[in-house]
Amino acid sequence: MSHDLQKIKNEALAELAKLSTMHELDAFVVNYFGRSGGKLNTVLRSLKDLGDQERRSLGSEANAVKVEIWKQIDVKRNELKNAGKKQFVDLTAATERPRLGHLHPLTLARREMEEIFKGLGFAVMEGPDIESDYYTFEALNIPVEHPARDMWDTFHIKGFENAAENRKMVLKPHTSPMQVKVMEKHEPPFAVIVPGRVFRHEATDARHEHTFDQLEGFLVDENVTLANLKWILNEFFKQLFGEKIEIKLRPSYFPFTEPSIEVAVSCIFCSKKGCSVCHTGWLEMLGAGMIHQKVFEFAGYPKDKYSGFAFGIGISRIAMLKYDIPDIRMLYQNDQRLLNQF
Ligand code: FA5
Repeated sequence: MSHDLQKIKNEALAELAKLSTMHELDAFVVNYFGRSGGKLNTVLRSLKDLGDQERRSLGSEANAVKVEIWKQIDVKRNELKNAGKKQFVDLTAATERPRLGHLHPLTLARREMEEIFKGLGFAVMEGPDIESDYYTFEALNIPVEHPARDMWDTFHIKGFENAAENRKMVLKPHTSPMQVKVMEKHEPPFAVIVPGRVFRHEATDARHEHTFDQLEGFLVDENVTLANLKWILNEFFKQLFGEKIEIKLRPSYFPFTEPSIEVAVSCIFCSKKGCSVCHTGWLEMLGAGMIHQKVFEFAGYPKDKYSGFAFGIGISRIAMLKYDIPDIRMLYQNDQRLLNQF
């Protein structure tokens, strides 16, 4: 039967090529697709008498043959329609301009951030969205039952509920799991940034989403100090926003950094007066600190040999400031009225 199909196809295409009038073309269609006695139609009808498996495989082959012949019929019909007509092309006619795609504001913000950090000597790496509990928490000095786990309201992956503690999997709630993963593979000195999407089971408002983007950065060497971290962050914000933005460093707490800080920038929506976006005149942009020696221990580094800093910046918050977007949720709704402005 497969042989018959190919034979019919070859014959049909050869016949089609020779046709020279619309009349002949109509007769051709009847000859192959006519309800009673059409060559291909007869084969298609006989498929129903075949067994399941044969019907399935021959069915798709027959369908492909049918589509191919109809395609050539359309080509022939156009060819015959235009035969004898003088082709006139008006080169001055106005045409529709092709619609060009453009980058999403989050992509624009991420790329700009990456470029600045690359200029400061950082390499760019990526991590997976589904991550082990071990790299997300344990290796960052946050053991099971540690109250600090509540800082990241995490989505757990179904199917891993009964796995051993360090085999459990989660949707990464921050980009920090890449810290120990990179350290395990590389000897210092190194400086790395890791942009990525993160997920948290949390209520949303103008500056909180359950799905948002972060950019992790860490630098490890000997004799790295908090002053180095401060210089890098200052330089980053200066290059990103120019001199007009003010930066405030405040003490904070993360189990994987000691000391820990958070950095807020002056709110551009209200010039520090306090508004529905910032409440206080300042927008929290990142958490950071000096990498805890415990983290180096998890990475297998010798005790007290290395020092380093790490930070996690909210890319979505940067995009809000950069592009004057007053509600973070707008960045994830794909509303063309917003996106077409970029
Ligand atoms: C962290 O996620 C730490 N992993 C950051 C870190 C890295 C600290 C390395 C020390 C060393 P935090 O939960 O504060 O920290 O989030 C960091 C930044 O992500 C915040 O400053 C904010 O800019 C952004 N962010 C946090 N939660 C949300 C949210 N729900 N929606 C949008 N952006 C958020």
